[in-house]
Amino acid sequence: MYKSFREMSDKERRKAEEELYMIAESARDKAYCPYSGISVGAALLTSTGRVYTGCNIENSAYSPSVCAERVALFKAVSEGDNSPVAIAVAGGKRSEPASSPFPPCGVCRQVMTEFGGDLLIILKDGDGVKSYALSELLPHSFGKDNL
Ligand code: THU
Repeated sequence: MYKSFREMSDKERRKAEEELYMIAESARDKAYCPYSGISVGAALLTSTGRVYTGCNIENSAYSPSVCAERVALFKAVSEGDNSPVAIAVAGGKRSEPASSPFPPCGVCRQVMTEFGGDLLIILKDGDGVKSYALSELLPHSFGKDNL
């Protein structure tokens, strides 16, 4: 059963973050990226304990291309699961190890803020991982309160 990141010891939390990052790395294998040659994988943990994966999916018309993070988020929301807790992202040149870090683009940060106010974003950091609060990566964000 899912144990909240907040309830975990530092060691448990680091292990959970590394596990989520490894799932993102394997989701990277599914990337469809013939145009950029950049493959990205994401793994999204929700409060139900489920993990949804995503990869970037490009298109010959370019603009319909979608990032890995949004694929994972939209999979979760489309299943009625809209309480994301953490998302790990792994990306870089296809057939090469993931870049350290591979940060989410601005559009994905905006989509994240819609569903996960204090979402944790887990990125590669050297041989390990580092986590950031969404509010750190997208301060002063536009949201529901601005409407
Ligand atoms: N990409 C992602 O999947 N996530 C990001 O946050 C940044 C960029 C993808 C989009 C495109 O397929 C490729 O990486 C190069 O930009």
